Amino acid sequence: MKQTLLEELHLSLTADAPFISPKFFYDDIGSHLFDVITLLEEYYPTRTEQWIMDAHRAAIAQAVGDCDVLLDLGAGNCAKASQLFNSIQPKQYRALDISKEYLEAAVADLQKKYPQIDMCAEAIDLSLPLAFPDIAERRKIFFFPGSSIGNYDPKKADQFFANLAQECHGNGGLLIGVDLVKDRETLHLAYNDPLGVTASFNLNILLNVNRITGSNFNLQDWEHVAFFNESQSRIEMHLRARSDVEVHLPNDGSKGHAIQFKAGDLIHTENSYKYTQEGFTEKLRQAGFDNIQTWTDPKKHFLVCFANAK
Ligand code: AVI
Repeated sequence: MKQTLLEELHLSLTADAPFISPKFFYDDIGSHLFDVITLLEEYYPTRTEQWIMDAHRAAIAQAVGDCDVLLDLGAGNCAKASQLFNSIQPKQYRALDISKEYLEAAVADLQKKYPQIDMCAEAIDLSLPLAFPDIAERRKIFFFPGSSIGNYDPKKADQFFANLAQECHGNGGLLIGVDLVKDRETLHLAYNDPLGVTASFNLNILLNVNRITGSNFNLQDWEHVAFFNESQSRIEMHLRARSDVEVHLPNDGSKGHAIQFKAGDLIHTENSYKYTQEGFTEKLRQAGFDNIQTWTDPKKHFLVCFANAK
């Protein structure tokens, strides 16, 4: 496992356009920093999605209908899904995320509050195809909130949706939250908060890379860069070298490998795609969903959709 991550980082950092996969944001510190980001005034997605879910709770529950199994993709602390339990009343709840240990504690807590729901936690890598053969016959509702889909490249998002539509075809569906295109100022501030939490979140990825690979990135050599790329409809996050930097990346623990960065060189760390309502619902249709219902906030900053699988 460790070797694979090390090799992956080695390749991505020595690529012509160096990058670090955003999955490396979420070590312990990074996960906590992300939780703080969601509390920031400037970071509107989390509280806007929450507002939509609260304001349209009954209509959302009606659209979802009978829920045999609620599959929470990237469940984290299970807080968002648990807010649906009273209105949607799933018979079974499956919390799915990369780290099972963290999930198990959250699910154990929830199980005490909702003894009538059959619950389980499963470690899952969302970048790989998903299959749930043991519940093939049951009505499945996938839940994917938080605009996590925005961090997928559009082609990858299409494959992901096609996979979900296939898994719940016939009678299941997908409840999903996605961030919408809006004025540049709002978008810019959400990823350049004055308190510098997003900058810390971005820089922390280098500490995680140091931990995994034994590299010697020095945070003082790098600065946070985030901007809206209009033609791609995405926020891009990068780390920019403040001066010429040499970083040692021990490959397999034996011989060190040095990577040179020039002042101004960028390491790409994240894309966060922003969709239009029409573009996003069309994407769902193309993937095999129909009968799509949508809810938004008064400023149309964020969108929640329920889509039935054909
Ligand atoms: C998790 N994901 C939806 C966040 C986003 O907005 O793309 C990650 C994030 N990156 C910087 N701030 C928040």
